[in-house]
Amino acid sequence: MRRGVTGFAVLAVVVIAVAAAAGYWAGRRSTPQAPAAAESAARGAQLVELGGCDNCHTPKLPDGSLDMSRRLSGYQEGVSPLPPAVAPGQVSANPDFTSFRGDWGVSKARNLTPDATGIGGWSETQFIQTLKTGVDPSGMKLMPPMPIMELENAPEADLAAIYNYLRTLKPVANKITGM
Ligand code: HEC
Repeated sequence: MRRGVTGFAVLAVVVIAVAAAAGYWAGRRSTPQAPAAAESAARGAQLVELGGCDNCHTPKLPDGSLDMSRRLSGYQEGVSPLPPAVAPGQVSANPDFTSFRGDWGVSKARNLTPDATGIGGWSETQFIQTLKTGVDPSGMKLMPPMPIMELENAPEADLAAIYNYLRTLKPVANKITGM
């Protein structure tokens, strides 16, 4: 009788262990990718806040607040004025802080939304490479005041997170020309 109970207990332990292992593997196999991407995008949202990307890449309303209906769509081509002329060695900005003039010429904050006129056609790898090298997929070297030196040493997972977040933005059509 004693033996029977022990045998049953051992069998029960084995059954539980097998069931747990099966559950574990089934869980691993069926884990969807979605939560990881959503987590990455949530981190990206924080990094975009901390990185102050809106300061330059989001147009401003007349009262100076961010125009969230066109969030991160950059200098508004044909709408935003250009920055005033400056003496050598000096820098100027336009009123909505999306375009800048200095010894490098005139730079315009770019459209970061997932529209075809923005970075809609960029892969994650192209986005990471752009921020790591300061040269975009079209070969354009990123001029000031884009804070490339702050971003080039960021962990790739963080740059991927920013990319994942930017993919969730409303696409805004705004083709930016020049440089
Ligand atoms: C101080 C202003 C400023 C801030 C802050 C800023 N940017 Fe920029 N960014 C620019 C300007 C200006 C350009 C265009 C540079 C040029 O024309 O050479 C640019 C270009 C870019 C480009 C290249 C796009 C293209 O089409 O080539 C990317 C990507 C980018 N910024 C991402 C970001 C991200 C992400 C953040 C926040 C972490 C950020 N920027 C913060 C000013 C800024």
